[in-house]
Amino acid sequence: ASQTLQETLLAAIRTIPDYPKPGILFRDITTLLGDARAFRRSVDELVHPYAGSKIDKIAGIEARGFILGGAMAHQLSSGFVPIRKKGKLPYETVRVAYSLEYGLDEMEMHRDAVSPGERVILVDDLIATGGTAEGAVKLLRQMGAEIVAACFVIDLPDLGGRAKLEALGVSVNTLIA
Ligand code: PRP
Ligand code: ADE
Repeated sequence: ASQTLQETLLAAIRTIPDYPKPGILFRDITTLLGDARAFRRSVDELVHPYAGSKIDKIAGIEARGFILGGAMAHQLSSGFVPIRKKGKLPYETVRVAYSLEYGLDEMEMHRDAVSPGERVILVDDLIATGGTAEGAVKLLRQMGAEIVAACFVIDLPDLGGRAKLEALGVSVNTLIA
């Protein structure tokens, strides 16, 4: 029997209770990435709205946004830009502090990674509070990027991340809630 995309993704995502902190239900996509069919369908679905439009860069958020973003960039013939946890990038950077469901951190992007007016899609595996994605939006806009959309495999709607990004004028595309 053929499964819907939602069924395929639900079956492929693993949930780990109390990781990395007590009370957090961690949605683990390594099982999805290891499933050839679920991985391909996810990437196909993420790029589908942008097929045929000019996307200059995919900006992926460390770490799981790199895996999805690399595949999306290949499929859309776009460049790829890594947004990394602080201290990992070798050249001059722009930096922003952010909070997420279970902590605080800082992330960086190379200052020449995007040019003013470039059309960029932001990607990560999951949006929870939206703090991480909001930080990435600030970095990209600081460098003059036009954010076409922010894409995630998983939305945790109770945590309000989608609404936070939409309030910033970013259109949000997710595959499963
Ligand atoms: C997870 C996830 C997102 C972020 C979402 O990454 O991959 O980047 O949390 O949370 P938010 O919407 O509340 O900001 P994590 O910070 O655990 O980092 P990792 O990818 O390096 O494991
Ligand atoms: N990032 C923030 N909250 C998360 C969760 N519940 N599962 C996986 N990644 C997350």
